[in-house]
Amino acid sequence: MKQFIELDFDFVTGVSPDALEAEAVQARDLLENRNGPGNDFLGWLDLPLQIDNAQLDELRQAADTIRRSEGLVIVGIGGSYLGARAVLEALRSPFSGAQFPIYYAGHQLDAEYHAALLEFLKVRRYAVNVISKSGTTTEPGLAFRFLWRDLNDRFSADDIKKMVFATTDAQKGSLRKLADEAGLKTFVIPDDVGGRFSVFTPVGLLPIAAGGLNVASFVEGAHDMRAYLKSDAGRAFAENPALQYAAYRNACYQNGKKIEIFAAYQSALLYVAEWWKQLYGESEGKNGKGIFPASVNLSTDLHSLGQWMQDGERTIFETVIDVARQKGPVIQQQENNADGLNYLAGKTLHEVNRTALQATLAAHRDGGVPCLQIRMGDLNEYSLGALLYMFEYACGVSAYMLGVNPFDQPGVEAYKQNMFRLLGKP
Ligand code: PA5
Repeated sequence: MKQFIELDFDFVTGVSPDALEAEAVQARDLLENRNGPGNDFLGWLDLPLQIDNAQLDELRQAADTIRRSEGLVIVGIGGSYLGARAVLEALRSPFSGAQFPIYYAGHQLDAEYHAALLEFLKVRRYAVNVISKSGTTTEPGLAFRFLWRDLNDRFSADDIKKMVFATTDAQKGSLRKLADEAGLKTFVIPDDVGGRFSVFTPVGLLPIAAGGLNVASFVEGAHDMRAYLKSDAGRAFAENPALQYAAYRNACYQNGKKIEIFAAYQSALLYVAEWWKQLYGESEGKNGKGIFPASVNLSTDLHSLGQWMQDGERTIFETVIDVARQKGPVIQQQENNADGLNYLAGKTLHEVNRTALQATLAAHRDGGVPCLQIRMGDLNEYSLGALLYMFEYACGVSAYMLGVNPFDQPGVEAYKQNMFRLLGKP
């Protein structure tokens, strides 16, 4: 077994996840026996066990075609965007000029952003992966309309077939219709997998492969986590990170801690935090209930939100990602010690970062914030696959413990109805 995810409760004070073991196991059984609310959306549960080499080959082939262009524009929003971005941003260097370029569109409606992107793309031969399960979402729909116009103005229909890839429903939606009419290569989002649980479908896997990452290893991490959680007719609570995490969150919530702060000490994890916020926010925030998922990027935010976390209203708890190993510079001895930092000479920057983590954990615990650590050995495709799957599974369990359906999102309709009315949608 490769390195795995471990939970460390040493800095969790004032709450007892163990007290909720029975509730967590009951919620897990509801999930595994597929008899809880939203059970027609459980296709993600065994997905990592089902992905085969033929599917991976098909994805890699499309990714190879994409990589022959000058860059990929990923068009999508919410669950049709965040998983891929989380993995790509976590594992690709932000500085390597040699890296295959990836751009994002349709994840918001910012006019100047899209104008600048279109201006930049109009002299390039770029590929597009347009991703929408419904095939009717306004933001990606509009962005794709602009890109489609640009490509059709400059390239033949045959060329476009090698440049545009659509990931959508097998039958329904305007995107499916357009893709079929234009003869585009398409990938299907299974009916029983909702957006925020779709990172292990082509929604996540195609962009991740196109970004040059090892998609098989990402799936293997999820596969091993799934197999681990499932083994022995359900992994026992004491050794089950997903059940323990779900119990910890609910114990905090019942104790008046209504805000969970996802804290990462690697800027590479910024979009993992965004993905996590969507997963938990959209799954749990309903019927007047739910933990508000927030995030901080440390140590950066110790110089902004750190004050609030240490001293503000005691309604928060923290979930900290600790990455054990990272490459990075060793601090050198300096002759005149002008900056006074020679006491750190010989340490790596990562050691200092992890010391900041330990120091902050102790401070926050003493300030009345329960702090759970989620430990990872390395940050790579395998460990991210395991982590993201663990979060999905724990989300299903946690939402059932809370008494809500994790797989619907009735609340997002309200603003849409208003917007469509104001825009005069027929
Ligand atoms: O998790 C969800 O279901 C949502 O965030 C959707 O992914 C998001 O609204 C995009 O929907 P679609 O893929 O239909 O364009």
